[in-house]
Amino acid sequence: MIDFTVNTVTCTKCGLCAADCPARIISLDGGNPRIAPEKEVLCYKCQHCLTVCPTASLSILGLQPCNSLSLAGGLPDSASMELLIKGRRAVRKYKTENVEPETIAQLLSVASHAPSGKNDRQLRFTVVDDRAKLDVIRDEIMVKLVAIAQGTGFPAGMEFFAGCVRQWEIDGIDFVFRGAPHFLVVSAPKSIVTPVEDGLIALSTFELYAQTLGIGTVWDGLAKFIIGDLLPEFKVRLGIPDDHAIGYAMAFGWPAVQYTRTAQREPDAVHYV
Ligand SMILES: Cc1cc2nc3c(=O)[nH]c(=O)nc-3n(C[C@H](O)[C@H](O)[C@H](O)COP(=O)(O)O)c2cc1C
Repeated sequence: MIDFTVNTVTCTKCGLCAADCPARIISLDGGNPRIAPEKEVLCYKCQHCLTVCPTASLSILGLQPCNSLSLAGGLPDSASMELLIKGRRAVRKYKTENVEPETIAQLLSVASHAPSGKNDRQLRFTVVDDRAKLDVIRDEIMVKLVAIAQGTGFPAGMEFFAGCVRQWEIDGIDFVFRGAPHFLVVSAPKSIVTPVEDGLIALSTFELYAQTLGIGTVWDGLAKFIIGDLLPEFKVRLGIPDDHAIGYAMAFGWPAVQYTRTAQREPDAVHYV
């Protein structure tokens, strides 16, 4: 079922795979790693065994070690990561052109490497990949929001939408998607252990990687409220399954603003026990 195979010629019987297996299902049979058939069902499918093996002797789930990226050169250095984290900004001005489909696919594929609870990996990325499509959706949303503003008014806790609608009517400010050409909602079945957390982590991963390609992002709480609470028909309109919890939403595209330096922030409160 999980296709766990060992190259017994190159395997040094070091036992690292067994020691690192979070499900503790790899036994060392005379030094040779093995997973008993009845334990296969317990496998997290996390591939720790494949990635920890120093001699590329392990294959699992039909995956070959030669198809992994090598970590021999090390990870990005801390200064690069610090700059990436501190240099990231919420982008609210976008160029008109779409991000190329291959680049969007690459972003999503890297975001899929984000960790998930129990390695469940049940996320679904709902993507609007074309500005023209998002324009239509925005207009549909605005018609409904204007109607609410002029009719019953917004429900308790969402009164701030009235001010947003005024901005739209007076200045044409797109408070829903911030003028971005693309929109992304991450969702997962409500039945898994961590559907919302998995989505948030995936979007954080997506956002940081996007910066390295020069693509801007903005976390989109307003759109999330609209789709998740205020106008749930748009959850259906976007094709998000009814039994899915929304992790969060994000708009993205090529930025029409560049930042010259990082913000200066005080560290958050820390409580040492
Ligand atoms: C959960 C979350 C929801 C957000 N929702 C919105 C939003 O609906 N519209 C918006 O323009 N910015 C939104 N933002 C962006 C924040 O306002 C922004 O991250 C914050 O002001 C700090 O700025 P920075 O991201 O440039 O560092 C959101 C951010 C987070 C983390």
